[in-house]
Amino acid sequence: MVARWMRASNMNILAVFLVLHLAKTNLGHRANLKPNYVLFMADDLGIGDLGCYGNTTLRTPHIDSLAKDGALLTQHIAAASLCTPSRAAFLTGRYPVRSGMSSFHKLSIYIFAAGSGGLPTNETTFVKLLKEQGYSTALIGKWHLGLNCETHDDHCHHPAHYGFDYFYGLPLSNLRNCHPNSGDIFIVGSRRTVRTMVQVMVLALFTLLLLDYLGLLKIPWRALAFVCSTALFLLSVVVLLFISQFRNLNCILMENEKISQQPFSFDNLTQRMTSKATSFIERNSDRPFLLFMSYIQVHTALFASQEFLGKSKHGFYGDSVEEMDWSVGQILASLERLNQSKQTLIYFTSDQGAHVEEISDGGEVQGGWNGIYKGGKSTNWEGGIRVPGLLRWPGVLTPGKRVDGPTSNMDIFPMVVNLAQGTMPSDRTIDGRDLMPLLQGDIKQSEHEFLFHYCNRYLSAVRWHPRNSSLVWKAHFFTPNFNPEGSQGCFDTFVCFCHGSYITHHSPPLLYNLLKDPSEAIPLTPISEPRYHQILKAINAATLRHQKSLTPVPDQLSLNNVVWKPWLQPCCSSSWQLCRCDKEKGSSALQDGPGNSRDSPIDA
Ligand SMILES: *[C@@H]1O[C@H](CO)[C@@H](O)[C@H](O)[C@H]1NC(C)=O
Ligand SMILES: *[C@@H]1O[C@H](CO)[C@@H](O)[C@H](O)[C@H]1NC(C)=O
Repeated sequence: MVARWMRASNMNILAVFLVLHLAKTNLGHRANLKPNYVLFMADDLGIGDLGCYGNTTLRTPHIDSLAKDGALLTQHIAAASLCTPSRAAFLTGRYPVRSGMSSFHKLSIYIFAAGSGGLPTNETTFVKLLKEQGYSTALIGKWHLGLNCETHDDHCHHPAHYGFDYFYGLPLSNLRNCHPNSGDIFIVGSRRTVRTMVQVMVLALFTLLLLDYLGLLKIPWRALAFVCSTALFLLSVVVLLFISQFRNLNCILMENEKISQQPFSFDNLTQRMTSKATSFIERNSDRPFLLFMSYIQVHTALFASQEFLGKSKHGFYGDSVEEMDWSVGQILASLERLNQSKQTLIYFTSDQGAHVEEISDGGEVQGGWNGIYKGGKSTNWEGGIRVPGLLRWPGVLTPGKRVDGPTSNMDIFPMVVNLAQGTMPSDRTIDGRDLMPLLQGDIKQSEHEFLFHYCNRYLSAVRWHPRNSSLVWKAHFFTPNFNPEGSQGCFDTFVCFCHGSYITHHSPPLLYNLLKDPSEAIPLTPISEPRYHQILKAINAATLRHQKSLTPVPDQLSLNNVVWKPWLQPCCSSSWQLCRCDKEKGSSALQDGPGNSRDSPIDA
C-alpha cells in the first residue's frame, strides 16, 4: 500500500518534474534566442572610479558584481570623448562623423534645448531594430541628441523617433546651471575670453585717457565712450538675463512627449528614475525588453539624496557615484525578483572618461578619476576614451572573464541586433563588431584591427591591434595643449578643443606602445622601436582606407544647428508665463528613500 502510494507519487513527481523541465528548457530556449537587455551608461564616470577597475575607496558593490558575475573589458573604447557624439555612435554603431554628429568648431555638444540639430532620423539605432523584433523599449535618463527641428514641439529628434516606446528623462543634459548653487558653465567656460575682453577694455580706456591728456584726440571721444559703454551695458544685461533664465529654459524633465518638470528638481531624482525603470521591467516581464538606463550622474551639477550625502570618502562626487551604484543595485534586484536575471544581458559603461577639469568654485574636485590613464573627457588620450565595459549574462558568459583587446561602445549595436535575430542594415557602414564571439571564446582576438579616434570632426589618433598579436599601437596626429602647461587638462578653457592654437600637430605622429605604456608616457622613436616606420606605414594606409569610406553628410552640430532659436524653445506653460511647471509636485516630495522605493513606484 505504502509502496504503491510511493510509486504513484514518484510518478507524479516525475511528471511534474518533466513538465517543469520542459517549461524551463522552453523558457531557456526563448531566452537564449531573445535576451532582454539592460544597458547602463554613466555620464563622465572615470574608469578609475570603480572597484572592479582597482578603486579601493569608492564603494560600487553593485556595479562591481557585474564584473564578478560576468565579463570585464580592460580596453573598452568610447567612439568619442564628448557626450553628444559618443552617444550617437553608441546608438548607431557608427563613427559620429558618418551621421554628421561631430563638430568643426568649439561647441561640440548641444547646450540649448532649443537648437535645431539632432541625430538624423535616417540613421538606424539598434533600438529601432529591436522594436521590429517585438521588443518593448525604454530610455530613462539622458538623451542629448536633439529635440526639435522647426517648431517648439515638433519633437523631430525625440527618442520616440529612434525606437523608444517609453522615455523618462532629460532631452538635453544635466549641467551646472541646472542646480541653483552649482556654478555656471558659461562663466567657467568663458573665463579666458572674459579675461581677454577686460584686458582689452582697460587698455583701450587707458590709451584714450592718455591721448586725451596729450591733446592728440580730435574725435568727440566722450560721446563715443558713452555710446560704447551703454552698448556694452545693454549687452551684459541681455547676457546675464539669458544666463539667469538658462535653468528654466534648458533643464527639462520629460515623460514621453510631455514636459513634467521645467526646470527639473533634483529631489529624489535618482529614486524617481530608478522606480520608472523597475516599473518598466515589471510591465514587460512577459516579453523581450530593452532598457537603456542613461544616468545623468556623474556629470555636474552633482547631486545626491539625503541617504548618500556626505557618506562617501570622495566628497560630493563620491556620494553621487555611490547613489548611482545603489540605483544599479535596485534594478538588478528587480530583475532577480521578477525572475528575469537569467534571460537578461546587462551592459555597463560610461560615455567617456572623467572630466578632470571639473573643480568647483570652492576648489573641490568634482570630476572623476581615470586611474593610470592620461588626460580625460574631450581628449583622445586614453583617459578620455578608455571607459568601463562590463557585461553579465548568467549561464552564457563565464563569470570573471577578462578581455584585454580593444573593443568599442559601437560593438553593442551588432551584438544586441544579432542576438535578437534582427537584420543588420546593409546600406551603410557599421563600425561596431559583435562582441559575442570574443566573449564566448569562439575567437581569440578582438575584430577591431584599427580604431579611429576623432576629436570632434578631426581625426586625432589611430589605434592598431595587429592580427595574431597582443600588441596595440597608438599614433596621435595632434594632441591638445594642456593649460596650465604640465597639467593633465585644459583648465583655462574647461574642456580641450580640437583645432587651431588649442592643439599641437605631430609629424611624424606621436607613437605609443599601449601594451607596455598604457599611460602614454614615452613616445617611441625609430631607435627605441625597430618597427617604427612599418607601424606608421600601416596606420597611414588604414587611415586612407577609412577616409575613403566617409561620405559628406549634413552637419548636425553646425553653429546654425546648435544656437538657441527662440521659436524652438520647449515650454510647458502658456506664452505669457515663464516656462515653469512641476507636474510631479507631490510625488517628488515623497520620502522615497533607498529602503522603500523598490515597492513604491511613483507613476500612477
Ligand atoms: C577612487 O576614486 C576617487 C574618486 O574619483 C579618486 O579620488 C581615487 O584616487 C580613486 N582611488 C584609486 C585607488 O584609484
Ligand atoms: C541621411 O540623409 C542625408 C541627407 O539628407 C544623407 O547625406 C545621408 O547619407 C543619409 N544617411 C543614411 C544612413 O542614409
